[in-house]
Amino acid sequence: MEYSDGDRAPRPVSASKSEMAEVVLPNDTNPLGALLGGRLMHLIDIAAAMAAHRHSRSYVVTASMDHIDFLAPVHVGELLLLKSAVNRAFNTSMEVGVKAYVENYISGMLRHVASAYVTFVAVDRHMNKLPVPPVLPESENEKRRYEDAGRRRELRKAELARRDSVRRP
Ligand SMILES: CC(C)(COP(=O)(O)OP(=O)(O)OC[C@H]1O[C@@H](n2cnc3c(N)ncnc32)[C@H](O)[C@@H]1OP(=O)(O)O)[C@@H](O)C(=O)NCCC(=O)NCCS
Repeated sequence: MEYSDGDRAPRPVSASKSEMAEVVLPNDTNPLGALLGGRLMHLIDIAAAMAAHRHSRSYVVTASMDHIDFLAPVHVGELLLLKSAVNRAFNTSMEVGVKAYVENYISGMLRHVASAYVTFVAVDRHMNKLPVPPVLPESENEKRRYEDAGRRRELRKAELARRDSVRRP
């Protein structure tokens, strides 16, 4: 198995850091003019995939999205900013953290409105899984997120195993 760029060296979090911006349009909102949760999840998935592509330099598929918190409503006309980075890579999978903010046009201040963790698996064009390079956390925050991602992976694996045992008693 090969990486698409053939490089197995650990990559810093900065190599995957990504950002996207979107103005909330009426079609994205409910009758009260608030951004639909499903639309925000779609944007989170795209912002997260950007980071996963940059880290793995390969195709990726979304395996799961969890710990999604909608902290505050987002309104029509507001400017949404989504920031993402790979917290940790395992064998073929990576956990990406995404934070969504509303940027106040006038003051430039950011309001944190949502967070999520999205796990991607690197694949080739035939959907064969590919190994991904490790993440090299540098700052204190990156090191904390790296450790936390390991704990979340264990929780996900335990929950998947529990659900499998319920499906196949
Ligand atoms: C995600 C997918 C590739 C996993 O394949 P699989 O053969 O069931 O996976 P495996 O059990 O071999 O696990 C492969 C990796 O995925 C991880 N994984 C599998 N299911 C997961 C889940 N629900 N959440 C988080 N990670 C998961 C495993 O922990 C493993 O990680 P590792 O290689 O880093 O140790 C497969 O289920 C799939 O193709 N799903 C559909 C993806 C899709 O269509 N997404 C939406 C559109 S992009």
